[in-house]
Amino acid sequence: MRKNFGAKPWTYPQPVFIIATYGEDGTPDAMNAAWGGISDDTQISMCLSAEHKTVANILARGAFTVSMADAAHVAECDYVGIESANKVPNKLAKAGFHTEKAEHVDAPIIVELPMSVECRLISYDEETCRLVGEIVNVSADEKILDENGKIDPVPPGGCHRDFQYFKRGEKI
Ligand SMILES: Cc1cc2nc3c(=O)[nH]c(=O)nc-3n(C[C@H](O)[C@H](O)[C@H](O)COP(=O)(O)O)c2cc1C
Repeated sequence: MRKNFGAKPWTYPQPVFIIATYGEDGTPDAMNAAWGGISDDTQISMCLSAEHKTVANILARGAFTVSMADAAHVAECDYVGIESANKVPNKLAKAGFHTEKAEHVDAPIIVELPMSVECRLISYDEETCRLVGEIVNVSADEKILDENGKIDPVPPGGCHRDFQYFKRGEKI
């Protein structure tokens, strides 16, 4: 027997995306995004509400980075999803995150999160909230590379269900 849930935005396990940007004055910001995914070889799509400071930053600078929340930083990642830089301009520092500039785009990388996808804005539709980015680089901290130099997907991966966070399982 299977149970039907109707039309839901679910593709479990869903990563928790942390989108980092620079404001007009260069202050880094980040937000939490539950709804998004890869939509082509070098494209990522997300559903971002227009009122977020992150969206204003992306439209102004044309760039952003995407990291995945991990279990070690769940409090920090949650904070950037419940506070807005429209109200708390130094929100990222308050969250306890540190940043450095991404090598390939005009956006910050969150040092504490070990994997980062550097993106340039392709399009944003205010009505549908759909934002599409071109992936121009992926970088990862050496500490999450396996013996073959590939990214070990287990440590970066936290996931969510109904805005609650879960720690992903082990390699099988
Ligand atoms: C778990 C979680 C998932 C979220 N997912 C999304 C999302 O997919 N799209 C969106 O527009 N906002 C989402 N939000 C809300 C934003 O992260 C939140 O409003 C944030 O404060 C915006 O920050 P900013 O104004 O500094 O950009 C989510 C929040 C949480 C806690």
